[in-house]
Amino acid sequence: MGERELSVVVLAAGKGERMRSDRPKVLHEVAGRPMIAHVLAAADALAPARVTVVVGPGMEAVAAAVAPRACVLQPERRGTADAVARARAAHEGLGGDVLALYGDTPLVEPETLARALARRRAADDPAVVALGFRPDDPGAYGRLRLDSGGALTGIVEAADADPEAAAIRLCNSGIMAFDGAALWPLLDEVRADNAKGEYYLTDLVGLAVAAGRRCAHVEAPAGELAGVNDRAGLAAAEAFAQKRLRERALAGGATLIRPESVRLCADTALGRDVVIEPGVFFGPGVSVADGATIRAFSHLEGARIGPGATVGPFARLRPGAAVGAGARVGNFVEVKAADIEAGARINHLSYIGDARVGAGANVGAGVITCNYDGFAKHRTDIGAGAFIGSNSALVAPVSIGAGALVGAGSTVVSDVAADALAVARAAQRAIGGGAGRYRAARRRRAGAG
Ligand code: UD1
Ligand code: CA
Repeated sequence: MGERELSVVVLAAGKGERMRSDRPKVLHEVAGRPMIAHVLAAADALAPARVTVVVGPGMEAVAAAVAPRACVLQPERRGTADAVARARAAHEGLGGDVLALYGDTPLVEPETLARALARRRAADDPAVVALGFRPDDPGAYGRLRLDSGGALTGIVEAADADPEAAAIRLCNSGIMAFDGAALWPLLDEVRADNAKGEYYLTDLVGLAVAAGRRCAHVEAPAGELAGVNDRAGLAAAEAFAQKRLRERALAGGATLIRPESVRLCADTALGRDVVIEPGVFFGPGVSVADGATIRAFSHLEGARIGPGATVGPFARLRPGAAVGAGARVGNFVEVKAADIEAGARINHLSYIGDARVGAGANVGAGVITCNYDGFAKHRTDIGAGAFIGSNSALVAPVSIGAGALVGAGSTVVSDVAADALAVARAAQRAIGGGAGRYRAARRRRAGAG
């Protein structure tokens, strides 16, 4: 049975009213990535033959976020069974197994999905395998009803539960694996005769059992299967995701001095012997190579940090920042769309944007690349080994040659040749004895007044 096709239907048509948001629920982010993207990444790990996302009216933003995957429209929110039925035309002909995932259950691991699928393909050939869990508060979740032999016989929605069903701790995560041959015909039999007047996908268990098929369940850790229905659920999912990401970072050989203070993204890549000091925020798209240190209270997004580099404390790396091997970006330095090459140093109070800072160059305190003229952005190129004196303004487009020296306080508006010395500031006047004469004049005036 190992060769059976797998296809995946992801339900995302619900409006998510309880989020109180203008954004579709599944586009809310956990660990810096939309919930639906987490679900799709988990699905992709199983190499499905087809994935279809079911969206509601006006959810073009969801369709755009999941592109190039196919979307089908569920014109009216009539329940989870109706939502799956919208994918029928795209999936029925594939045969094999169908995995139904919920866009609002973002933390499920690929291994857990694989376990559900393996159970579905076991010798007793269950028509439906539900992924169950035991949350601290079963609350609004559907409950899994088992017979005395432990086989799944039905799912009771919370709204329809009698006290006995409500007392069941084993809950439905919503994720289900189906034998495709059973799924599509059984969907026709679902009726909306329940408290919510919806077509419940969960009814397929009872219908399959009534048709003489076995059903089963697989259990997984609660944190992984919590559904997000409101902002509190989103915060809880975020907390779980952060804990898991930190554990992975530590297991991968990074030191997090105060792990719970570090915010990671789903795609944050930390090498071996990386040190992350307290209070560091990783946005999407950051990689930190082996042996690099990110010092306290730095904010990074879309940035590549090379081996042995040091960033921070209090540094801000924006998208397109690349810090080369052994380079240093120090306190109160902002870098955007710039290559800081190996061994370069920008240690204090700078803005470096749309630029290259050549290998081994030294950028002094307070240096600014003036990259924006009010209309367009322009580039600054600083050659290898150049020295830019403190408090200089480099007005782009401008290039400073390799090994050149710019005197402190310069405003550089034209290119500086390699190894040249450029000084662009008012010449200093020294007036001998001037300070004494100035003070005497001030005292006379004060006496007269
Ligand atoms: C559902 C399950 C419940 C389970 C819980 C787990 C059903 C009937 N109930 O309840 O047993 O414990 O998830 O989190 O399945 N959706 C559509 N179209 C619809 C309705 C929903 O696409 O017409 C999508 C939603 O976008 C969401 C998912 O299906 O991604 C679940 O819908 P939701 O309304 O959140 O179901 P729950 O009440 O949480
Ligand atoms: Ca839900």
